[in-house]
Amino acid sequence: MNHHPEKLYLYPVWIRIWHMVNALLCLILIITGLSIQFSNPGTVVKFSAAVSVHNIAGIILTISYIAFFLGNLFTPNGVYYIIPVKGFISRMKKQFRYYTIGLFKKEDAPFPVNDESKFNPLQQVTYVVLMYIFVPVVIFSGWGLLYPEITINSVFGYSGLDLTDLFHIAAGFAISIIMCVHIYFCTIGNNPVSNFKSMINGYHESH
Ligand code: HEM
Repeated sequence: MNHHPEKLYLYPVWIRIWHMVNALLCLILIITGLSIQFSNPGTVVKFSAAVSVHNIAGIILTISYIAFFLGNLFTPNGVYYIIPVKGFISRMKKQFRYYTIGLFKKEDAPFPVNDESKFNPLQQVTYVVLMYIFVPVVIFSGWGLLYPEITINSVFGYSGLDLTDLFHIAAGFAISIIMCVHIYFCTIGNNPVSNFKSMINGYHESH
């Protein structure tokens, strides 16, 4: 039963719950992660508290990621994450031109949202790279740092732990940057708050 005929129901309940939990955890992980990285050696208690909170949030993030992964594997939502190979470059260019020029000339979006495609080409690639590369890398490297005994000792003479740390920080940094860009792009919907409302009520507002 659709009470909003002019709106599209695109965000099922499980995606909204996952997303809220995920966003909250990511914020906690970024704040505690930064405070671990730029810790002052004098503030011992605060440092250990940041580490504990970071570890617990990382464990919960792993569980919520597994839920996301299985949800996309077994429900139709996963279909939105399959990138069509044909015409990939030209679709990316078209969307890029829209974001840099067309949008400001009030042109229509080249890939309007509908049941078959909820993400535009750039958005789709971003979500796929984020959810199937960066988030898994940050999770696997995080577990490797939590249990150093399971981490490879040396890779071509480099310390396995240092490399794991490098991957963890690089992926964490990438996720943080993408999150800022993600929030900016969420403001260019029908009106600045409509996309945020969509993630609460499930309905996407079309132009
Ligand atoms: C406070 C932080 C965040 C806010 C306010 C926010 C906001 C939103 C909004 C409004 C949407 C719906 C519009 C759209 O599809 O673009 C969305 C979708 C999405 N967000 Fe976020 N987000 C945040 C953090 C994150 C983080 C940290 C991640 C991943 C690490 C993430 C991943 C996603 C994904 C994958 C979708 C599409 C979900 C789907 O429909 O399948 N978001 N976000």
